[in-house]
Amino acid sequence: MRDFDRDEILHVLDAAAKIDKNQNEYAHMMNGKIMATLFFEPSTRTRLSFEGSMLRLGGNIMGFADPGSTSAKKGESLADSIKIIEAYCDIIVMRARIEGAARLAGNIAKIPIINGGDGANQHPTQTFLDLYTIRKSKGSLDGHTVGFMGDLKYGRTVHSLAYALSFFKTKMFFISPRDLGMPDDHLDELRERGVNFEEVESFDQVKKQIDVLYVTRIQRERFGDELDYEKVKEGYFINRAFLKGCREDLKILHPLPRVDELSVEVDDTPYAIYFEQAANGIPVRMALICLTMGAIK
Ligand code: NCD
Repeated sequence: MRDFDRDEILHVLDAAAKIDKNQNEYAHMMNGKIMATLFFEPSTRTRLSFEGSMLRLGGNIMGFADPGSTSAKKGESLADSIKIIEAYCDIIVMRARIEGAARLAGNIAKIPIINGGDGANQHPTQTFLDLYTIRKSKGSLDGHTVGFMGDLKYGRTVHSLAYALSFFKTKMFFISPRDLGMPDDHLDELRERGVNFEEVESFDQVKKQIDVLYVTRIQRERFGDELDYEKVKEGYFINRAFLKGCREDLKILHPLPRVDELSVEVDDTPYAIYFEQAANGIPVRMALICLTMGAIK
């Protein structure tokens, strides 16, 4: 996300909005091009919406979702894998467990590399579709009070979204159990960028102010057994009762998958926009592919 500033972010969102209005116009933009999706970590939405986007642009796809079936298993380094794979395709989307892996690949490869999530660090393309969804439902990215709730320590989508929103007039509340708060380096960065934020332990304290609530699941696979999962998830379960007294114009986003932090009974309230958010992955990722490939300006 650190490759983008305010104007560049808005430029991507405007491109996505144009594609959203008239997808057919873009149906041949990637004719003859190949995208490789290298997913060293589990994924449903990110990989399939990237692949779907490339197919809708008339391009071709190849890749893997199970690194166990690749030479990584034999001990091949990421650097070597990238040098080989870039000879087979025109653009790479990758997800890796190691923080900074996509940046490293980007420094090695001559073709565009898109970060589909690197460990607990960042998930910038998710951020673009989050921003797109907020702007579409609220009309603007400026002037919101955004609550981030759940696992803010390991939730990479939160890290990149908070950074991106620092370019817009935003008040932020970080709502989490004490053990799963925003990492200090991310908070320092927000401080340096002059963001007005507060860390709180419950939604109740701030629910009259928040108009965008960004919820994430507890990233259990990243902290193993060192924290008691049952204990940290307590008090962070959203259902209709939990939302009582919230603002009428509240919109709830979630990168999904949800586990047990967000009840299905919220799905048909006017607050829920997380399924639209996931659907927005297509125009947004189509735009990111076209822009990085230089097919549109
Ligand atoms: C997120 C991720 O992978 O970081 N999922 C996604 O890409 N939509 C969120 C998560 O796994 O909790």
